[in-house]
Amino acid sequence: MPAFSTTSSGTLLLFGATGDLSRRMLLPSLFALHEDGLIGPSVAEGGVRIVGTARSEHDDADFQAFAKQALEEFLPADRKDESKLSAFLERLSYQTLDASRIEGFEALAEKLGDTSGGLSIFLSTAPALFEATIAGLAHAGLAHQGVRIGLEKPLGNDLASSRRINDAVAAAFAEDQIFRIDHYLGKETVQNLMALRFANMMFEPLWNSAGIDHVQITISETVGLEGRKGFYDETGALRDMVQNHMLQLVALTAMEPPAEFDATSIRDEKVKLLRALRPVDARDMVRGQYSAGAVKGGSGSVGVGGYLDDLAEPSGTETFVALKTHVDNWRWQGVPFYLRTGKRLAERRSEIVIQFKCVPHNIFSGKNARLKANRLVIRLQPEEYVRLQVMAKEPGLDRGGIVLREVPLDLSLTDAFAKARRRIAYERLLLDLIEGAQTLFVRRDEVEAQWQWVDAIRALWASESMDTKPYTSGSWGPNAAIALTERDGRSWND
Ligand code: BG6
Repeated sequence: MPAFSTTSSGTLLLFGATGDLSRRMLLPSLFALHEDGLIGPSVAEGGVRIVGTARSEHDDADFQAFAKQALEEFLPADRKDESKLSAFLERLSYQTLDASRIEGFEALAEKLGDTSGGLSIFLSTAPALFEATIAGLAHAGLAHQGVRIGLEKPLGNDLASSRRINDAVAAAFAEDQIFRIDHYLGKETVQNLMALRFANMMFEPLWNSAGIDHVQITISETVGLEGRKGFYDETGALRDMVQNHMLQLVALTAMEPPAEFDATSIRDEKVKLLRALRPVDARDMVRGQYSAGAVKGGSGSVGVGGYLDDLAEPSGTETFVALKTHVDNWRWQGVPFYLRTGKRLAERRSEIVIQFKCVPHNIFSGKNARLKANRLVIRLQPEEYVRLQVMAKEPGLDRGGIVLREVPLDLSLTDAFAKARRRIAYERLLLDLIEGAQTLFVRRDEVEAQWQWVDAIRALWASESMDTKPYTSGSWGPNAAIALTERDGRSWND
């Protein structure tokens, strides 16, 4: 069993402890860490204590009952061991807090007691309460050097507001105490992208404009608004998905090899890459909004309403965006990066497609054989695999010519690592926060480079009055998104 780290904080403080993220992700993740001995023995024996806080009035017992219910609902049946569950619940306590009132933080500090053994804070709070929360923590002595703070999105909605938030946090915490969360970085397959690129010899020599024709990144979802009307309509797909998750995938796919696998080296390379992203041209962007249609559900196709039906009011917010961009550095000159993401699309799928160039000369052309260029598909979810499409000859005597066919060289991560339990991103991220490992968190300069690029897109939408184009739920987005690749003689990997 892996050891309880000596760098672990003694206490974890969860803001928004009775919210949806806590119920679905954080509490099940913490239970998994408890099960594996990663947050130490019981609190009495020096293990991590978990204190929840939220606005609603509860006591410790209520919060434990809330957590119990969440675990019963979200843990797989074979992991509901009663004695482990009750030992986990003993770690939990609760303090009601109205973050808009500074006095509340004194009571919180009293509840936490001695935090000299280290305090990790997970903060996911309404943007309006952000600055008051940071000020309250500082006021109550909860921003000392032994404190780490994890920040969940949304952290601003443009460069200016993100800077304001970053400044407010920086007034109380040093950058090495700040852990900005992008849950995509906690996904196993996203980290595997670095292993694929930097632990194998065969890809790197071709990983540039000499070997690669273009790159595609798709994050498609079948879900719609999911009860997040207010937030989503204010935000839209560009800010909800591209500014963070999508740009992280671009950075990890395209960055230069870092010298070491550590927080500074990796984040230095990502930020260099993000700063090299070319501003997107108005003709290279598509905004879409879903209309009624049918999407894949548990047992076949399910009819669904359009975005405006879900919202029940008029809106110009995009639920889909497709873009073509370039990375302006030596490695990537002339290689387009096509990005798309949206809700209510044909499939739930996150993938990176590396389309290699064709061989320079087809020696089989005299034998009527057609060649296709190699394509590497890195599927992040729902399946986890790396698939390289290579050309092979169909068996036979070839009297009528040689027939070459594309066949996959397949690495199914699910099969190759069948014994390893698949962990949800928050298990990894919470443990890294508690132990103080910053590699998988986003640095301030990265976030600001992301916003700068995204703000330029939004400014063009405004100046060109670029409206959303409707697309049928269950499709791959507006026709214009298909035209974005087709007019360059390329196709999405659908
Ligand atoms: C969140 C977005 O950050 O990521 C959601 O706010 C989106 O709109 C979610 O559904 C997607 O995450 P995942 O892990 O399901 O791909």
